[in-house]
Amino acid sequence: MPWSRRSFLSASASALTTGAAISALTDPVRATGAFASSPTTPFEPWLELDAAAVASNAREVARLAGGRPVLAVVKNNGYGLGVGLLGRILRDVDEVAGAAVVTPGAAHELVDAGLDKPVLLMARVDDGDGEELVRRGVRLATTDERAGEQIARIAGRVGSRVRVHAYLDTGMSRLGVPFRSASAFLSELASSGHATVEGVFMGFAEDDDFDAVQLRRFREVTEVAKRSGAALGLQHAASSHGLFFRPEAHLDLVRPGLAIFGAYPAGARDANSASLVPAFRMKARVARVSRLSEGDGVSYGREYVATQPTWVATLPVGHADGYPRRAVDGCEVLIGPRTYPVIGAVSASHTIVEIGPTRAVDVGDEAVLVGPDHPAIHPNEISERAGISVYDVLMHLSARLPRVVT
Ligand SMILES: Cc1ncc(COP(=O)(O)O)c(C=O)c1O
Repeated sequence: MPWSRRSFLSASASALTTGAAISALTDPVRATGAFASSPTTPFEPWLELDAAAVASNAREVARLAGGRPVLAVVKNNGYGLGVGLLGRILRDVDEVAGAAVVTPGAAHELVDAGLDKPVLLMARVDDGDGEELVRRGVRLATTDERAGEQIARIAGRVGSRVRVHAYLDTGMSRLGVPFRSASAFLSELASSGHATVEGVFMGFAEDDDFDAVQLRRFREVTEVAKRSGAALGLQHAASSHGLFFRPEAHLDLVRPGLAIFGAYPAGARDANSASLVPAFRMKARVARVSRLSEGDGVSYGREYVATQPTWVATLPVGHADGYPRRAVDGCEVLIGPRTYPVIGAVSASHTIVEIGPTRAVDVGDEAVLVGPDHPAIHPNEISERAGISVYDVLMHLSARLPRVVT
């Protein structure tokens, strides 16, 4: 059974319009020099980010949303892919109207990357960060019922209205203005003279029955506020799950993260209603090839002991780089035209695969651990085989991995 985010908590791209910015990104030196941690060396694992796949996924998302604009969620370092690099890619994707993050640092990175589209910070900030972000054009969100006071203070400091998306809590009990007091809050905020309400939004619990309750609450709150004359801007609610399963909640724009990067929310991959392409490859080169004799063990715990002579290859990449520890529970790695099973244990910096009776790979061969190139290494497949959330397959990718945009 595929893992949903909820169960986890409780347990060929069409060609991108190649503008100058994208061509610059395809130059690994510029890409790494500007945004990544270091240039690649042959035996260091790395991440390849596929700009055309990001653009293709955004188009696919917009198609699923009936042509509505897309607010791309790039929180948590762009779902592990690299928020600055994504800012540069998304700048040239017409379907993407803006981007949303949850830390001031990420919002600054997007602005620094030249993303000339609205950036929304969906998180609480202190006054100093808020002021700095507003001066750079970032939109703030209201995270509780006292947010109006902070917006008034920030508006006073910057000397203009603050552009805001009002975050409503319709039942997640996480962030936002609780729905019971939200109509009055919205009317007051919109008429305060301190804010321009560019949007109102909520997040779903992704529960089949409760999502309908949440959407009804959202509609009631916004209707009452609108009747009082409040201008509310764009309404948005649907993340990747909502994109696929809650068409009635597509509203004025959709707000997915996962789907933009080419992975499917639980249950959506089988529906075959969209064609998303994983937008990254996690890669490493074979560091050693050796022949095991019967009785030889592999890695910590000797979970694998050879029952007959066989060849194994060591990849210098492990769970500290973001490859799941539990990949040993059935995942495979692509080397050349074939996939090979992960055996023994995924340690912090090493993963070992069984090659078989013949020495079919060599030191220096390129291995793809996660990516679009074979069904066995698709992020959703890894999630299912390893029994982890697909979000973790992306979001745990180490920020230290050198990144190259292809
Ligand atoms: C408020 C909010 N909206 C949208 C998203 C995007 O979610 P997904 O990656 O499932 O599309 C997230 C991510 O968790 C979020 O926190």
